[in-house]
Amino acid sequence: MRIVSGIQPTGKLHLGNYLGAIRNWVRMQDENAAAGGETLFFLADLHSLSDHIPAETRREGVREMAAALIAAGVDPARAILFNQARVPAHAELCWLLNGTARMGWLNRMTQWKDKAGKNREGASVALFDYPVLQAADVLVYQATHVPVGEDQKQHLELARDIATKFNTDFGVELFPLPDPIIPPAAARIMSLRDGSAKMSKSDPSDMARINLADDDDLIAQKIKKAKTDPEPLPGEAAGLEARPEARNLVGIYAALADQSVDQVLARFAGQGFGAFKPALAELLVETLRPIRDRFVALKDDHDAIDRVLMAGAERAAALAAPTLDAAYRALGLFR
Ligand code: TYM
Repeated sequence: MRIVSGIQPTGKLHLGNYLGAIRNWVRMQDENAAAGGETLFFLADLHSLSDHIPAETRREGVREMAAALIAAGVDPARAILFNQARVPAHAELCWLLNGTARMGWLNRMTQWKDKAGKNREGASVALFDYPVLQAADVLVYQATHVPVGEDQKQHLELARDIATKFNTDFGVELFPLPDPIIPPAAARIMSLRDGSAKMSKSDPSDMARINLADDDDLIAQKIKKAKTDPEPLPGEAAGLEARPEARNLVGIYAALADQSVDQVLARFAGQGFGAFKPALAELLVETLRPIRDRFVALKDDHDAIDRVLMAGAERAAALAAPTLDAAYRALGLFR
């Protein structure tokens, strides 16, 4: 298996990232190391150019997110951890794939439509081309498995389309089609304030998300204030269908406890949120406390973090080189 995934280094690592992706990264990294495969995780700092961010914020974001990932269990001895900007092969392959990707495909991407909104003329080219860079991120390593949350599924389907068209147009079998690995529960954790919006780094309200570095009191307070409804919990999952906020909280509990939603409901059926919320807060605090402690101990050791990222970049660049060479050759480009 060749496992590859990335995360934007802007904003804080939150519960949606953790349950939707990072926990799976850690599990897959361990299995893949035992099986002798390579695993690569990176900070998508080049992707962050699609937003206007001051340089210093970007620099801090990369180091802070690297520390958070290590704290959450990403192990540089088992997975190659690096930032994208240190491995030029990502940007190079993106440019090569720009010849294959179609405007119509990119126009259909929901992230583009949501973020550009009505202001398409004023949106950056980087925002439009974002999914092609993401395709390059995985294809440059000939990734077979890409652990992500539900919201990245469309981008990965695009990566498969680009890979298929490139292979066909140039008569090569260069890019295997990467499989998205999406967790069965927790693929889409929603905002604590609005059950129809996903939990996100960019939500202006910090009360809408649980950050992995939040302290115990803040976590308890956020869960206490989370939006719910006055009904007691039902006996099975079907009873949550029209109750997005309740479904989200029960889903979070289930993911944390590694249980099914029905198992959680079997325990809390008939009880209201006055009973459920404290149990959820306790489970969250127990899960996140060790991650936060490791994060606090590591985050200011810039030298140690930079060493990890530089060593990772060197290994990643070596893995990318043959695929990038083959892509140049397939296109008839002299280097
Ligand atoms: P990003 O930085 O938004 O999120 C990182 C990972 O966390 C998952 N995630 C969630 N999962 C469940 N519920 C949520 N509320 C939630 N919010 C985020 C995301 O699905 C993702 O797996 N474009 C990507 C970064 C990227 C990438 C790649 C990923 C760049 N290149 C190549 C995979 C492969 C992004 O912005 O993720």
